[in-house]
Amino acid sequence: MDALAAMQALATAEGRTDPYPWYERLRAAGPVLALGEGFYVVTGYQQADRVLRDPSFLATDAAVLDRTLPGWRASAAWRWLGRTMLWRNPPDHGRLRRLAGSAFTARRTAQLRPDVVRLVDGLIDGMAGPDPVDFMDAFAFPLPVAVICALLGVPESDRDWFRPRAHDLTLALEVFAGDPDSMGRADTAAVELEDYFVGLLAHRRAHPGDDMLSDLLAAGAAGQIGGAEMVAHLALLLVAGFETTTNLLGNGLAALLARPDLTAELRAHPELAGAYVEEMLRYDPPVQATSRHAGQDLALDGVPLPAGAEVMVLLAAAARDPGRYARPDRFDPHRDPVPSLSFGAGAHYCLGAPLARLEAQVAFPLLLRRLPGLRLAGPALRRDRLGFRGFAALPIIA
Ligand code: HEM
Repeated sequence: MDALAAMQALATAEGRTDPYPWYERLRAAGPVLALGEGFYVVTGYQQADRVLRDPSFLATDAAVLDRTLPGWRASAAWRWLGRTMLWRNPPDHGRLRRLAGSAFTARRTAQLRPDVVRLVDGLIDGMAGPDPVDFMDAFAFPLPVAVICALLGVPESDRDWFRPRAHDLTLALEVFAGDPDSMGRADTAAVELEDYFVGLLAHRRAHPGDDMLSDLLAAGAAGQIGGAEMVAHLALLLVAGFETTTNLLGNGLAALLARPDLTAELRAHPELAGAYVEEMLRYDPPVQATSRHAGQDLALDGVPLPAGAEVMVLLAAAARDPGRYARPDRFDPHRDPVPSLSFGAGAHYCLGAPLARLEAQVAFPLLLRRLPGLRLAGPALRRDRLGFRGFAALPIIA
């Protein structure tokens, strides 16, 4: 099977459910693959790391989109993305990132630990009992949502309204984004979330508080961020907090419960939580891919890339690169601490990484300590997504 056929397999429901064999075939074909006119796929760790760190590779900003996707402004979801830091380059990227940065530093995040412990304990209280519960609904979703809502100053009571919209909005970020049904749903979600945040900002302007919404309004008054940018920025932070940490918790628990030796070890040694969470991130990354565009004519691992070329970076393929990780298909929290690219790298390195790590590092040891009989209660159901990999349902007996 050639690389193109493996790529096509990834676009099927079967490929999305278990993409790792297809990543392996792609990697076997080469760390950098030319798969179409101006389209390249990177599967090797070193090469992925270079693309993410080298400023000659640009994020997909409005100038790039004008060249590569004329008409993109007709999509509310792409307009939203184009205003966020994720899809911006210097100097706007740095300006927007600095505005959020102070709330997400390792030090500020560490101060949230007692709140996270309290939230985790409360959710475990709600799950404990003889009946099966869905871990995704009962724990993996509510925990990150409660944390990010508190940080942003967004009412947690609106979370069930957000949930389907956050899901739909991120369809615009999917690996094979662009089909009319998905984009229609993403566009509707973008418009509804935009309206929501416009209303929330207006309310907060009248009633300032000690949260990021109020800080952003102050930055807006000082001319550091525009009104439409502010709305996009808030929607990004909300969605980034929803669709990723939830899947780290679900993917991580599934990996753990599949191996009684691991469950027993982490239960006996909660101090290993840091290493376990890093391995969970590597083994089954919640964000499987991202992309960049060549800002000029470049060569990557000997493959010439013309200016403007689109480069899909398969983070999850790089995470199983045998040149970087011995026995990459095995979950091994004791491997040499090798950083993975699961939070990205370089200028766009995940802003929420300290927060996601904190939540997972608190959650797993507490779940194991407080729930001695924790086990799977039935078959887990994967979501039909490739880019944001997770479970639709993960039944457990707590
Ligand atoms: C396990 C959980 C998470 C994973 C796996 C994850 C993954 C990633 C990755 C791979 C990127 C880089 C994308 C690129 O380079 O194109 C990224 C960027 C980002 N993440 Fe996360 N993320 C997680 C949680 C969070 C949380 C909780 C937040 C915060 C609310 C957050 C906010 C962001 C933001 C704002 C960016 C864009 C940074 C920039 O463009 O400079 N993420 N994330």
